[in-house]
Amino acid sequence: MTDKNELAQIGVVGLAVMGSNLARNFARNGNTVAVYNRSPEKTHALIEAHGEEGNFVPSETIEDFVASLERPRKAIIMVKAGRATDAVIDQLAEAMDDGDIIIDGGNALFTDTIRREKDVAARGKHFVGAGISGGEEGALNGPAIMPGGPKESWETLGPILESIAANVDGTPCVTHIGPDGAGHFVKMVHNGIEYADMQVIGEAYQLLRYGAGMEPAEIAEVFREWNSGDLDSYLIEITAEVLAQKDPETGAPLVDIIVDAAGQKGTGRWTAINGLELGVPITGIAESVFARALSSSTAQRRAAQEGQLPAGTIKALDVDKAEFIEDVRRALYAAKLIAYSQGFDGIKAGSEEFGWDVDPRDLATIWRGGCIIRAKFLDRIRAAYDNNADLPALILDPYFKGELEDLIDPWRRVVVAATQLGLPAPVFASSLSYYDSLRAERLPAALIQGQRDFFGAHTFKRTDKPGTFHIEWSGDRSLTQTD
Ligand code: 6PG
Repeated sequence: MTDKNELAQIGVVGLAVMGSNLARNFARNGNTVAVYNRSPEKTHALIEAHGEEGNFVPSETIEDFVASLERPRKAIIMVKAGRATDAVIDQLAEAMDDGDIIIDGGNALFTDTIRREKDVAARGKHFVGAGISGGEEGALNGPAIMPGGPKESWETLGPILESIAANVDGTPCVTHIGPDGAGHFVKMVHNGIEYADMQVIGEAYQLLRYGAGMEPAEIAEVFREWNSGDLDSYLIEITAEVLAQKDPETGAPLVDIIVDAAGQKGTGRWTAINGLELGVPITGIAESVFARALSSSTAQRRAAQEGQLPAGTIKALDVDKAEFIEDVRRALYAAKLIAYSQGFDGIKAGSEEFGWDVDPRDLATIWRGGCIIRAKFLDRIRAAYDNNADLPALILDPYFKGELEDLIDPWRRVVVAATQLGLPAPVFASSLSYYDSLRAERLPAALIQGQRDFFGAHTFKRTDKPGTFHIEWSGDRSLTQTD
């Protein structure tokens, strides 16, 4: 139904699939929604196909769109991240009044969001960078929403966002994350975790396929079973679907027909870069980004295959198949646990750096539904932070420590098997090294400090007394205290 005279509670700019699904979600949940797209055909198409789902107020100019919103006006931008977003923000800020709210629902880089918030605030309006997860289906039926921006805007926006968000046990999967770029930052790390989660699932598949010699359809059944236990999650569920799918043209397993070069739009890479900048070892996420990059290094891979780099003496697996499958399940669970633990470390570091005061309990709550990394396991993460909001690391929570008791040996066995078989398992292996590094009483960092002092007089600390020291390496090798 459309009514030009009715004022809308919310507006959506940009009516590609995500935008129009979000608009439909608002309308289906009783909100009157103003809709605008640069080319009016998309607006007409939305109204024609779905106008009966609720109250839409379509406009053909941004001015009419703004005029169709009730005050304080609330408009969500769902256009391509980057310059297109800046252009729409500028148009909206121009046409809106003081106190109105512009929301960017795309995957914007959080530093852009911080900049935009400042600019828009200087023009008297509010700007909210909101991460929205759940893909096309989530946008329509209930996404997880991570809004940043001023707390004041959340008071106005909260109820309307709650009306469309996913809901788990009566709790909507949306909350105010923190000021300015906090929402987009958290969404960025969500996507980083998503990359790692997808990669460890991929590594498990690779081991079952080429280590245990199983066919995709058989592995699909294994994933289906895993989805009823600790690993119960959206990504495991869709993995089973993808593996069971046959290519409609050839009848071959679809996974064998798809080119094995993974794409990326950049959010995982941003997370890894941020980890490097803030000095947080989010190794699982970084390895996952590199794994995608390596998969897409087509020419180099071809040369390495044609040149037949030596594989060493590949030994056949001498373990029982059922035991191996269970080991892989546990290794996957362990590596996934590390990825989440590191992701939460990344969020803590970002929150401290930018003064956002992000509460990890909020994330563990709102990520339980709607988003791509939704998993049963998030309930456990929430419980962990409920018990201790200042956990030094998620894996140090008593429940997860107990889980790791059961996971550690199979995890080691799987990394050994992968190495022995010459099968790549970058996140399984590097996460295990991360885990062992955290546990290690002594790290070779002492030697590195010695080397740095040797060639650059970079000094070192001593274990037995305070102060900063240097050895006269090219002289008499005496010890001097520098402060
Ligand atoms: C989500 C997804 C979504 C998008 C990813 C895909 O949370 O709904 O993360 O935002 O599908 O950006 O990212 P890549 O193209 O980089 O894999």
